[in-house]
Parts: sequence; structure tokens; C-alpha cells
Amino acid sequence: MYYLIYRSKEANQLSPYKLSKLVEKSRNNNYLNELTGILIHQHGSFMQMIEGKRGAVEKLYQLVESDNRHHSIELLSDGEIDTRTFPHLSMAFCNLDFHSRAIQEKELIKNFDSQKKDAHDYICNFYTSHLPLLFSWGP
Ligand SMILES: Cc1cc2nc3c(=O)[nH]c(=O)nc-3n(C[C@H](O)[C@H](O)[C@H](O)COP(=O)(O)O)c2cc1C
Repeated sequence: MYYLIYRSKEANQLSPYKLSKLVEKSRNNNYLNELTGILIHQHGSFMQMIEGKRGAVEKLYQLVESDNRHHSIELLSDGEIDTRTFPHLSMAFCNLDFHSRAIQEKELIKNFDSQKKDAHDYICNFYTSHLPLLFSWGP
């Protein structure tokens, strides 16, 4: 099993509707390709973890890298893993723009400064400490 985590910047602001369509499509595709993970959105930045068979993860990453809805894609961390962090979520989604200022300030993905080796720990910790955020869409 393999994972990768990248960060990127939104090209043009995506409406909540377009974002939800992107997530819906991703969930369908990922389910079919046995991929799981999380997509976090905040202040025009994305951070995503994709996990699954190495070939499938790399194939998706190539597609995602050439997607013109975002740019400045920066690989933060990748490697082999024994178990998935998101075994039951084909793509968890968290739009931090919809959450309280306290949470937003704590989780500034824009400022998630190149502690690249820590990206995996960060995502795992985000998941366990903010589980309820993943089940709310905001307004
Ligand atoms: C920030 C971001 C994250 C994405 N994540 C995924 C994903 O997890 N799975 C996926 O299939 N497509 C994802 N996409 C979309 C892909 O770039 C691509 O448009 C899509 O896989 C094409 O699917 P289709 O061939 O079924 O139309 C993402 C796009 C962006 C901008």
C-alpha cells in the first residue's frame, strides 16, 4: 500500500457547488479504483492525501497534476504504508472555510510550512481530532 500527500492552490475560486461536484466525481472514481483519502480545502488552497495500490495512486496523481482547476502543486510526502488511514472513505472532504475561526487558525494549510516529513502525521492527527468536521458540509 502506498500514499501521497500534496498541497496546491486553487486556480479560480470554485463555488461550493463545483467543489461538491469535484468531490462527488472523485468519490465515484476512487471507489472504483480502490483509492481512499482526504481532501482539505481552505482559503484557496488544497491539501490531499491519496492512498491505495501504488500504480493506482500514481495514475490518479498524474491526472490531478494536470487538472487546471489548481496549480503550484507541491508533493509533501509519499511512501509505503501497512494500513490505510481512511479505510472507509473514498475521499473524505473538509472545507475549513466553513468552520470556526479558531479551527481555521489552527489548521492553516497555506502556512503548513515545508515540514514535509510531518505531513503524514499531520493528516492522521487531523482525522482523529476533527472527525466531526468531515461529516458536515457547512452552509
Ligand atoms: C484538488 C483536486 C483533487 C482531485 N481529487 C481527485 C480524486 O481524488 N479522484 C479523482 O478521480 N479525481 C480527482 N480530481 C479530478 C481529476 O483531476 C480529474 O479531473 C478526474 O479524475 C477525471 O475523471 P474522469 O476521467 O472520470 O472525468 C481532483 C481534482 C482536483 C482539482
